[in-house]
Amino acid sequence: MSINQRRLFKEEFLQSAQKHFSGWFMDKLIVEGPCTLKGSVQISSAKNATLPILVATLLCPYPVTFDSIPELMDVGTILKLLQSMGVKVTKKGSQTIVDASHLDNQHADYALVKTMRASVLVLGPLLARYGVASVSLPGGCAIGARPVDIHLMGMEKLGAEIEIENGYIKAHCKKLKGATITLPFPSVGATENLIMAAVLAEGTTIIENAAMEPEIDDLADFLIAQGVKIEGAGTSHITVHGMDIKQLKSPAKPYRVIGDRIEAATFIIAAIMSKGEVRVEGFNPKHLTYVLETLIKMGASLEVGEDFVLVKKSQRLKGAIIETAPYPGFPTDVQAQMMALMSVVEGNSVVTETIFENRFMHVPEMGRMGSKVTLKGNSALIEGVEDLSGAPVMCTDLRASAALILCALIASGESEIQRVYHLDRGYEKIDEKLTKLGAKIKRVKG
Ligand code: EPZ
Repeated sequence: MSINQRRLFKEEFLQSAQKHFSGWFMDKLIVEGPCTLKGSVQISSAKNATLPILVATLLCPYPVTFDSIPELMDVGTILKLLQSMGVKVTKKGSQTIVDASHLDNQHADYALVKTMRASVLVLGPLLARYGVASVSLPGGCAIGARPVDIHLMGMEKLGAEIEIENGYIKAHCKKLKGATITLPFPSVGATENLIMAAVLAEGTTIIENAAMEPEIDDLADFLIAQGVKIEGAGTSHITVHGMDIKQLKSPAKPYRVIGDRIEAATFIIAAIMSKGEVRVEGFNPKHLTYVLETLIKMGASLEVGEDFVLVKKSQRLKGAIIETAPYPGFPTDVQAQMMALMSVVEGNSVVTETIFENRFMHVPEMGRMGSKVTLKGNSALIEGVEDLSGAPVMCTDLRASAALILCALIASGESEIQRVYHLDRGYEKIDEKLTKLGAKIKRVKG
């Protein structure tokens, strides 16, 4: 795609996005509380596994078929980014076919990358397959600076030459060469980027201090299904055996991404807060061990099955002390939702956020509904209150939005939750799913 064509594509994409989503940006949810949730809810495929796995199709010179890709804004963005490079994306019923047989450019434009930082994951596969990539620096986001220095350090270890020019990562290499890379921090994105880069590198790559999140394991499972040899995914020591692109083979059946453990945790907490009985199904509870153990210690009554958790009516829970950490520690993506629950338990709780530097933006908004939270550095003291009251509140980021919905479900009276596009980035039809469980939620188009 020439520069001119790319400029036209970008203008067209932005115009269509603005037209299509303009109202959507101002959508709000009106929630009438309190409610008691009852019934069962099917968890969607995991956003944080779907994104890297869709990017990994850049390594495959053939169409890849997926089953039940979640309909999320972030998934839409990554598919638009792949299409802007020449990838063909077609939907067939519940299946999505992604064909990266021929790309016409290796450029990830700022217009798309700024809306979703996971776009930086295209760096590894583009370098591995084409030896060249120009990827906009993602910039920060609401919850923190979120640099990509670990991604870039790893790519250089694999032999890439990298410059930063006008806000873009300009990377090139003759051919990536396998290496041993020790991550200073078990970064999820850096681990994913480096696994993908290593697939077509010459020789073997070992990633030490790798992130162990289940989404990494799922990315590895997807690559193994294409014929890649990877050992140790899901542990802190991952080995990838580089191969020639011709050895990659399309698997016989469509790939289905794992259930979203963060969405599952959100619904489990919603059910507990509303003192309801809900069966949350379609995910692996083993991916939520720390969260489930914490909830049971707080007094929740849960039946944990192979692919479901049944939340049973429980008495008022007690407070807890938690600290977020890389997997298998307490997940930062459940911190805000847990704080919503802690707002209404008996006694005090303490939450310490160690992963992101600014992930307490839900606190002032929850305060408008009556929660009592005192912040000190990266810790929050939550004093449990009897109940919350409905109020107009504003979403600031994805998981903060989830916390506000949880509070609104049990608050007495009406809450108006604004800027729900934050929520739509990472939760598939959450208002429809909650309504089916008995919540009183109305989406008002912006
Ligand atoms: C992934 O983000 C998830 N996003 C995040 O989920 C999740 O919170 C995070 O992992 C931690 O579990 C996706 O998978 C799309 P990191 P990622 O690299 O890869 C610092 C959600 O709500 N860091 O493990 O960006 C970084 O600043 C989202 O679904 C560097 O300093 O997370 C952060 O403080 C939010 N340099 C910490 O590490 C780097 O090069 C964790 O980042 C990379 C990261």
